[in-house]
Amino acid sequence: MPNSNIILVGPPGAGKGTQAIMLREKLDAHYISTGDLFRSHLSNETELGKQAQTYMNAGELVPDTLTINMLSEELEKKDGSQGFILDGFPRNVAQAEALSKLLEDKQLKIDVVLFFNVPTDELVRRLSTRFTCRICQAPANLNDTESHSSSSCPQCGGELYQRPDDAPEAIKRRLDVYEEETKPILDYYDTQRLLTEIDSIGSINEVFEKVAGAL
Ligand code: AP5
Repeated sequence: MPNSNIILVGPPGAGKGTQAIMLREKLDAHYISTGDLFRSHLSNETELGKQAQTYMNAGELVPDTLTINMLSEELEKKDGSQGFILDGFPRNVAQAEALSKLLEDKQLKIDVVLFFNVPTDELVRRLSTRFTCRICQAPANLNDTESHSSSSCPQCGGELYQRPDDAPEAIKRRLDVYEEETKPILDYYDTQRLLTEIDSIGSINEVFEKVAGAL
């Protein structure tokens, strides 16, 4: 499915970032992760990064105005003909509506929304054992021998760290926020016949096979 516009939706820890990196390589599409963009602003100590930090560390959503502006600027930088993979946006119905408008203005449309479905106990296990690269932001799980076996990033060799929002209290809040604010977008896209559910239990490669099959 080259040159497609794909949205990845799912609870925290479902494997959206992991699958997005693999999909980007397969499709040669632009990859936009709003979480990665915020973390990049944070490490560059920009004003936006400072504004986002408190929300992120507490597991809350960053306010829509900041998030939609950031996404809009990022979309402007990309060549629309190449296709894109959006990870972590939209995260509520207001963001989904804003995205439709932004794409309409660029004469683009969403081709498919992949919903990564994982039970809560597995999400908590994945998030509590996740490490993230300080340089390229790729996720790794040091307990997952398929994913990684040393303490440096499998993608770029950068230093791995644990995200502050992977602390137990923040994980709990992120899961609640997903239930309350993000889940309604599943119905929003299902009504538009764009939603495809991926049962995301199984190894990373097994899940990727399901993703490739769905596309
Ligand atoms: P963001 O960075 O988007 O976090 P998230 O959605 O909570 O998702 P995660 O990155 O935690 O999980 P993932 O699904 O990508 O899983 P991963 O592949 O890493 O957002 C962070 C914060 O930024 C938000 O809380 C909010 O504050 C803010 N923000 C971002 N976007 C926003 C927006 N649109 N609006 C407002 N605020 C926004 O995998 C997890 C672990 O599992 C890894 O260790 C991985 O190796 C492992 N794993 C993956 N797949 C498998 C598998 N099949 N089997 C076993 N292990 C696996």
